[in-house]
Amino acid sequence: MITTTGLTKVYESRGRQVTALDGVDLHVREGEVFGVIGQSGAGKSSLIRCVNLLERPTSGTVTVDGTDLTALAGRGRRANKDLRRARSRIGMVFQHFNLLSSRTVKDNVELPLEILGVSGADRSRRALELLDLVGLADKARAYPGQLSGGQKQRVGIARALAGNPKVLLSDEATSALDPETTRSILQLLRDLNRQLGLTVLLITHEMDVVKQICDSAALMKKGRVVESGTVAELLATPGSELAHELFPVTGDASGPGSTVLDVTFHGEAATQPVISQLSRTYNIDISILGAAMDTVGGRQIGRMRIELPGPYEENVVPIGFLREQGLQAELVAPDADADAGAGAGADADADAEADADADVQEKAAVPAQNAPKLVKEIAK
Ligand SMILES: Nc1ncnc2c1ncn2[C@@H]1O[C@H](COP(=O)(O)OP(=O)(O)OP(=O)(O)O)[C@@H](O)[C@H]1O
Ligand SMILES: [Mg+2]
Repeated sequence: MITTTGLTKVYESRGRQVTALDGVDLHVREGEVFGVIGQSGAGKSSLIRCVNLLERPTSGTVTVDGTDLTALAGRGRRANKDLRRARSRIGMVFQHFNLLSSRTVKDNVELPLEILGVSGADRSRRALELLDLVGLADKARAYPGQLSGGQKQRVGIARALAGNPKVLLSDEATSALDPETTRSILQLLRDLNRQLGLTVLLITHEMDVVKQICDSAALMKKGRVVESGTVAELLATPGSELAHELFPVTGDASGPGSTVLDVTFHGEAATQPVISQLSRTYNIDISILGAAMDTVGGRQIGRMRIELPGPYEENVVPIGFLREQGLQAELVAPDADADAGAGAGADADADAEADADADVQEKAAVPAQNAPKLVKEIAK
């Protein structure tokens, strides 16, 4: 549904070039919820803004629902008519909602329809339908200032759906919300994905978001996608950083000379008594150093760190046994945890720069005098 090939974005900033995207190939299938995760400055927002051509890629292509948007991009800043039409089929949800404070909730939802030239009566009917869909039918006449953060984001989602999009893009839609509200907004996105067959590409820096609603995920670092796949594929990929972050399991070996394994159970294998079979078959004592069960992408997954006596060479056969049972068994190097982790330690430099470069899309509340600018961005 969304494909990017060799997507590159180089910003010119104060005489300096910043490569925000460095050849990104991404493939989001129809009807899936796809999460892009990465540290601050990794290029996540640049990616999403290039996907709907709010930002013109320096090179590479973006295809959404079979249309090559990069081929449609008009000359100069203003998009041509075909691009505007294609873009109306791509909804966008923002971190800070970007609602117009001087308009009622219903009028905010109507805004994109006004831009598309939909007549008053149709706009009104559609806006009320959408508010009903996001659970805000009773707030149509309220102003954004009278809503909670979660309610504002529901309005933002209703507005994003106004043009009947097939694709919804979301840039950190929940990172300004508390955990419980986050869960309810994620659930809403999941419901919309299922009910409307909407393809969702979302950006987040929270693994929990991926865990709760994503079918697939990609990890970005320094403008590149370094891992991507369905959540199940990632969990089955030895050494996957995303899998480690999604499903951390820790525990230290009791001493030198033993073999430590991370064992991942999913599907059928999750219900079999594999560890006790291993112990009985090979007559070895197994220590469990750490373990966790969780639901990832709606599937039950278990992970366990176990210790077998003796070095690796003595445990080749038991490890083979585990793999034959359909389990993923990964050898843990003695200091494996020391440098693992995608989320730790944000790049402060990039952070400060990204803050400085915040534009109208990212502003917390859009003051009335900025409204024309926002309308232009939405119309672009
Ligand atoms: N308009 C711009 N002009 C110049 N540089 C920019 C611009 N927008 C982004 N950048 C730079 O491009 C890089 C990627 O930024 P981007 O906003 O895509 O990161 P991000 O992954 O979304 O980060 P965050 O998690 O902080 O939102 C950063 O180094 C940033 O400073
Ligand atoms: Mg960002």
